[in-house]
Amino acid sequence: MNLLDVRNLTIELPTHDQQIIAVDRVSMTIREGEILGLVGESGSGKSLIAKAIVGVLNNRWKVTADRMQWMGEDLLRLPVEERREIIGRDISIIYQEPSRCLDPTAKVGEQLKESIPNSILKANFWQRRKARQEKAEGLLHKVGIKNHKRVMNAYPHELSEGVCQKVMIAMAIAKCPKLIIADEPTASLEATTRAQIFRVLKSLNQLKNTSILLITHDFEIISHWTDHTNVLYCGQLVESGKTSDIITKPFHPYTDALITSVPDFKEATAHKQKLVTLPGTIPSLEHLPIGCRLGPRCPNAKRECVIAPKMTKRQSHSVACHFPLNLTKKETIT
Ligand SMILES: Nc1ncnc2c1ncn2[C@@H]1O[C@H](COP(=O)(O)OP(=O)(O)O)[C@@H](O)[C@H]1O
Ligand code: SF4
Ligand SMILES: [Mg+2]
Repeated sequence: MNLLDVRNLTIELPTHDQQIIAVDRVSMTIREGEILGLVGESGSGKSLIAKAIVGVLNNRWKVTADRMQWMGEDLLRLPVEERREIIGRDISIIYQEPSRCLDPTAKVGEQLKESIPNSILKANFWQRRKARQEKAEGLLHKVGIKNHKRVMNAYPHELSEGVCQKVMIAMAIAKCPKLIIADEPTASLEATTRAQIFRVLKSLNQLKNTSILLITHDFEIISHWTDHTNVLYCGQLVESGKTSDIITKPFHPYTDALITSVPDFKEATAHKQKLVTLPGTIPSLEHLPIGCRLGPRCPNAKRECVIAPKMTKRQSHSVACHFPLNLTKKETIT
């Protein structure tokens, strides 16, 4: 069953002299129990998409879509209150910087307890206080925090980024959401904590069938933790399909470059060998190239690429490129 079905999501920023299109007709579907990856370089529009889904972009942004259906209901066409209620109940978001999202003036335990809805406490109202305390402690254990007393009594600044991130995850899972949007949830953490956090997310996915939209710039994370992947470049989707298909046979030159930049995906690299990546950087939204947005950086670009390529499909694997890679002679893209 589809939980979230987004068609042609466009996010624009009107300025005094031009309309900046930061996200351009992006479509994606998240099924129940699926871990979907959204990968792309910094500045490609990943966080804007996450924020548009949960409706927290400020009014300067214009968000439009043919549809943004949550379990059959179009979020963009619902009254604001109703939309907030659905998102508050069913969707949690984990941001990149936990210390910014936690309230610096309140103890962590109080913040965590507040995030537990009454509806999931199996207790009468006079027993709720105790039940809430126990639930909060249980949530901390679940995310790998053993010394719950110290953490509950601390203010965010007294804890490391890793512990704060675990607390954010505990808050995100407190309401048993149907979908967790994890926006670079481990970007500033060291490797052991990072692995722990992904294991928590994966076990929720397996035990509670929670769907996860995992946002990252790192293909290694995508390869380990996701079922399907969407590749975003400069606000547009360029490739989409099963993660295993994309890793073994990427169609788009950009995806290929992202995969090749992970050292152990291809043959062993020689000592101090330069990583193969694309030249240049992602263009600014004010100065986008004509036609394919990857054109100026693409090693395969040809004259035809001045016309923007459309998303085309081969079985369940889609790509937006005039000259896809890894096709055998017999294979065609339709
Ligand atoms: N508040 C803002 N004002 C102007 N431009 C913004 C703002 N937030 C993001 N952008 C621009 O929108 C694009 C996408 O940003 P973002 O979604 O944060 O990228 P990502 O999460 O992929 O790194 C970037 O080019 C960024 O510069
Ligand atoms: S359409 Fe052309 S420029 Fe764009 S990715 Fe494909 S080959 Fe490269
Ligand atoms: Mg981001």
